Amino acid sequence: MQLRESGADNASAAAEFRDLALSAGAQLLGEVDAPLSRPHPRFCVGSGKAAEIADQVRLLEADLVLVSGTLTPIQERNLEALVKARVVDRTGLILDIFAARARSHEGKLQVELAQLRHMATRLVRGWTHLERQRGGSIGLRGPGETQLETDRRLLAERVKQLSRRLNKVVRQREQGRQQRLASDLPQVALVGYTNAGKSTLFNRLAGAGVYAADQLFATLDPTVRRVAGFRFGELVLADTVGFVSDLPHELVAAFRSTLTEAREADLLLHLVDGADPEAAQRIADVDAVLREIGAEEIPQLIVLNKADLLSDPLDSLLAGDSRPVVRVSALTGDGLDQLREKLNELLSEQSIHYDLQVPFAASALRARLIAYGAVRSESEADESGWHMEVELSERLARQLGHLPGASGSCARQQLLRSAESGE
Ligand code: GTP
Repeated sequence: MQLRESGADNASAAAEFRDLALSAGAQLLGEVDAPLSRPHPRFCVGSGKAAEIADQVRLLEADLVLVSGTLTPIQERNLEALVKARVVDRTGLILDIFAARARSHEGKLQVELAQLRHMATRLVRGWTHLERQRGGSIGLRGPGETQLETDRRLLAERVKQLSRRLNKVVRQREQGRQQRLASDLPQVALVGYTNAGKSTLFNRLAGAGVYAADQLFATLDPTVRRVAGFRFGELVLADTVGFVSDLPHELVAAFRSTLTEAREADLLLHLVDGADPEAAQRIADVDAVLREIGAEEIPQLIVLNKADLLSDPLDSLLAGDSRPVVRVSALTGDGLDQLREKLNELLSEQSIHYDLQVPFAASALRARLIAYGAVRSESEADESGWHMEVELSERLARQLGHLPGASGSCARQQLLRSAESGE
């Protein structure tokens, strides 16, 4: 059932809800449009509309009704009793998709917790008015039917246990993050509307086999990789869970830690599916979520993806927007050189000039300096090694100063000292 504010044309919200339903594996038999001037306490919609849904369910032999809005537990139960099929609202549906997609330990715990909390409010009188097999498994995956049969005390205990485990996982992850921050590499997070192509781009840039599929929310857990080959050295790239418009608030809280990567990045790669007719709205949606998690001040590079599907360069899409833009096709690899160049531009700090004495033992350091194009001049080697004039960012100087080959050399001292004093 598509709920619609009366008078409003929300074709795109309806299309998104359809995608969500398909993403959860539902087979769509029919759709009931329900304009909503004010929510009706009994069924959310008026009783006439509720009867129409019941007729449709009978006619189409449907066993599941998905509702595009949020229902109270009572409305859900009333509607189920009337239509004689399972009823799952938008939050339940999104949770179900999360449950089917969660891959990491933390992701699974988070989903189960959110799902149990969502369920706990709906467990007061149980689900006995429904045959359990009706409605397939949508809305029941994750903790599933066995949990529905447990009493509230067991449920509360499970929630407590999960919270404890989750706290521990989050603490461990926090330590990993601290280590990454301490490693002093620029942090870049891929953010964007779900299905924009984040995992595909992540794979391209990081050469990693992250799951990419044409389904909403294919990524639930952020995946983090170090990516080398930039003028400033390496960066840390994080993939994040895709955003949807109006993500139910309880889910934003449950998935906060998956968005930490975005909140603490030096730069956000805001990925947009350029082939999506709603691209402008998607950009606004993602901006709204970024504001919600306090990431609105972080510099962004807009990456217009799926350029292979575009005949129009979409110049008007970002007219008046001051953020830098680059067009790519993560699928074919087109535009990735420009993307790397933009990353070089945006993340390179001002260069510092160094006169380095590089001993033979630190030949790895010399090789890196040459590879990064940092060498301005080099004198012929004498017995103390090479004398090099180089230009480097402070960040790269620190990274190179910690190279194993450079340890103990005067070049290392020079790099670290001047980087620290910001000379
Ligand atoms: P979520 O995990 O749902 O947030 O999605 P995502 O943003 O990580 O998207 P993903 O990389 O899974 O890509 C979604 C779909 O778009 C996949 O079918 C990709 O093959 C496809 N896709 C990604 N980039 C491109 C592109 O440049 N061109 C075309 N034609 N398809 C692309």
